[in-house]
Amino acid sequence: MTTLVAYASRYGASQGIAERIGARLADAGLPVDVRSVSDVADPAVYDAFVIGSAAYMGSWMKDARDFTRAHRAVLSTRPVWLFSSGPIGTATTDSRGRDVVAAAAPKEFGELATAIGARDQRVFFGALDRSKLRGAHRVMATLPAAGKLFIEGDFRDWEAIDAWADGIARELGAPARSEG
Ligand SMILES: Cc1cc2nc3c(=O)[nH]c(=O)nc-3n(C[C@H](O)[C@H](O)[C@H](O)COP(=O)(O)O)c2cc1C
Repeated sequence: MTTLVAYASRYGASQGIAERIGARLADAGLPVDVRSVSDVADPAVYDAFVIGSAAYMGSWMKDARDFTRAHRAVLSTRPVWLFSSGPIGTATTDSRGRDVVAAAAPKEFGELATAIGARDQRVFFGALDRSKLRGAHRVMATLPAAGKLFIEGDFRDWEAIDAWADGIARELGAPARSEG
């Protein structure tokens, strides 16, 4: 029973979340592979999946969308969990009073989760290092409005990520974790 944690990540923040989830599942005694979605040759060899991607401009990254849609037939017969990384910053509500985590759900999340019967879909805070930005992202970060949107820092909530991973481990039959 091997679980695949597959990710799409432009600058490494979502990859870090995927690796953390993978390590947590492995700690719980579950066999696990952590790979970029573009490095997965045959998903059918896995028994369960965690699929995650950064959100850009309101969407999951194309590689993650394509992977999930292309392998819908396999995914819909196995337990699958989805996560997204972004928003960034420390605010919990935005200027319109909306919960920033709820508002950051990529627009395809609902459709993809329904198509494959995902057990859960979760948005985690992400990370941004302006010096890593490339191409159009680098240009966008120089625009006057960017200051408020491109908040630099690592906002990943490892406690929340670990707790989510532990819930997945339990659902996959790992024994309850003893802390300490
Ligand atoms: C150009 C740009 C656009 C972004 N758009 C969104 C967005 O629409 N929603 C969101 O929640 N986060 C957004 N973010 C934040 C990223 O999703 C966040 O930094 C994420 O953790 C990056 O993951 P990665 O390093 O794996 O690519 C954006 C960041 C940049 C640089």
